[in-house]
Amino acid sequence: MVKKNVCVFISGRGTNLNNLIKRSREYNFPVKIKLIVSNNINAEGLKYAKINSIPFTLINTKLNNFERKIFKELKRYDISLICLAGYMKIISKNFIKLFGKKIVNIHPSLLPKFKGLNTFSRVIENKEIRSGCTVHLVNEKLDSGKIIAQKYFFINECDKENDIKIKTQRLEYLAFPEAIIKLYRNN
Ligand code: GAR
Repeated sequence: MVKKNVCVFISGRGTNLNNLIKRSREYNFPVKIKLIVSNNINAEGLKYAKINSIPFTLINTKLNNFERKIFKELKRYDISLICLAGYMKIISKNFIKLFGKKIVNIHPSLLPKFKGLNTFSRVIENKEIRSGCTVHLVNEKLDSGKIIAQKYFFINECDKENDIKIKTQRLEYLAFPEAIIKLYRNN
């Protein structure tokens, strides 16, 4: 199988990144992680780039030309898919157009509910009976692109924010690889 090249964008812990790196080693998984991009020099997840000898690029989103810089790297590694795995910056319309290929994001709620930040506290405040995660295509509107995969669990009365977070992230490790497989199934 000829695997497609993927770039993963992170800002923090990188546990989804780590999971994708592991899954990508399976012989029939359709992609390999060729590049990691972080906007945060202190992102814990950068350790997975180092441990696995995957090239990484740090970007400063305050600089005018940062999108051009990423784009050059994406071309260099022949990247055909970007996975946003806990990347906490908004991807601009310009960049979506410049890249011209698919970008997918993982979000810790059952979209279209709870777009944006602080999802877990809002899930509790809203007395939801279910919550979960969504993998979707990125378009110019925040957390609004076509849904590729979604997984949910039922909330217990005693669940606190951190319980919801743990349960959500457990499902993310299933949903993200599943969404990537789906994207390449018909190609
Ligand atoms: C994940 O739970 C992901 O859904 C969330 O950040 C976490 C990153 O965890 N993403 C967002 O909130 C995007 N709006 P990780 O760095 O351990 O993969």
